[in-house]
Amino acid sequence: MRLVSGIKPTGGLTLGNYIGAIKQFVQLQDELKDAEMFIFIADLHAITTPIEKQTLKKNIKEIAALYIACGLDPERVTLFVQSELPEHNQLAYVMESTVYMGELERMTQFKDKRQKLEEGLRGSLFTYPALMAADILLYDADLVPVGEDQKQHLELTRDLAIRFNNLYGDTFVVPKGYQPKTGAKIKSLTEPTKKMDKSSDNQKSYILLLDDLAQIKNKIKSAVTDSDGHIAYDIENKPGISNLLTIDASLLSTTIEERVNFYKNVSYQDFKLSVAEHVIDALRPIQEKFNVLINDPKLDDILDQGRDKAKQIAYKKIQKVYKKIGFLR
Ligand code: AMP
Ligand code: TRP
Repeated sequence: MRLVSGIKPTGGLTLGNYIGAIKQFVQLQDELKDAEMFIFIADLHAITTPIEKQTLKKNIKEIAALYIACGLDPERVTLFVQSELPEHNQLAYVMESTVYMGELERMTQFKDKRQKLEEGLRGSLFTYPALMAADILLYDADLVPVGEDQKQHLELTRDLAIRFNNLYGDTFVVPKGYQPKTGAKIKSLTEPTKKMDKSSDNQKSYILLLDDLAQIKNKIKSAVTDSDGHIAYDIENKPGISNLLTIDASLLSTTIEERVNFYKNVSYQDFKLSVAEHVIDALRPIQEKFNVLINDPKLDDILDQGRDKAKQIAYKKIQKVYKKIGFLR
């Protein structure tokens, strides 16, 4: 069994990234003792929209340190930086030659981003799902833990694997997605019908894993709720309260029902303070570990080793794929 996933270093990591992705990686690492895990920093994906050099460099290193601070064990998991392995680009081109324009045009993430960014729309934003498919198929991943927003890209990856296999003979494992039971889509604190997103302009809408703890408390205290005054899980009518319940249940590794019961007859204000406390309790140890790791030269060694290990698999896979296509004398 092999697992692959990545996060793009476009900004600081949010509580959504943690609950929807990293927390799942850590849980799977601990539960699936025999699984091989490849977790990378998807830096090639970060230049699909404009980003400054220094910001990108800082974000790449930060994610590496955060992966470990959140509980990934470099002895168990291969951690690496995507752009250091040209095989990702090589297979991405093959995937661009497998996918249809119509399929790329249907991707909702592309459609959303295109609307926000009419000017200077980059070609790579359009072909992004082909690169993501390559990231996964390169390692013959069986399982891909991702948040809900990536489900469509994963479905496309499966279609591309099947299409290539039909054209050239059995080459790729057809991967399955894996979503957390609770928290596959953490919502914005200020607009709780939208996803919590690090690219939002409103800093109060998201919690960063490296936010100051006092600031986190304030952000949760000012989270948008409703005027009903009753704590219940109802995504349609009470999206704000439901989101806070989801965050709370996920961080305490319990169910939403259990939390609803626990907060029966509690005021919104006390509820928010309690959720804030749980978020702070979860993030404090992560921040402490991060602060040590970020200045530790060991971090580079881990990424070097990860790259070398990933390379062994990626290189062989590209040779195989190229031969199937008719390349390589
Ligand atoms: P990204 O930051 O877009 O590279 O996303 C990295 C991972 O975090 C992907 O698996 C996403 O699905 C997941 N993710 C991002 N935002 C959220 C969110 N608000 N709730 C749950 N998962 C998320
Ligand atoms: N596209 C993903 C995101 O924006 C990040 C990503 C890139 C990824 N390649 C991947 C996730 C491969 C899982 C597997 O969230």
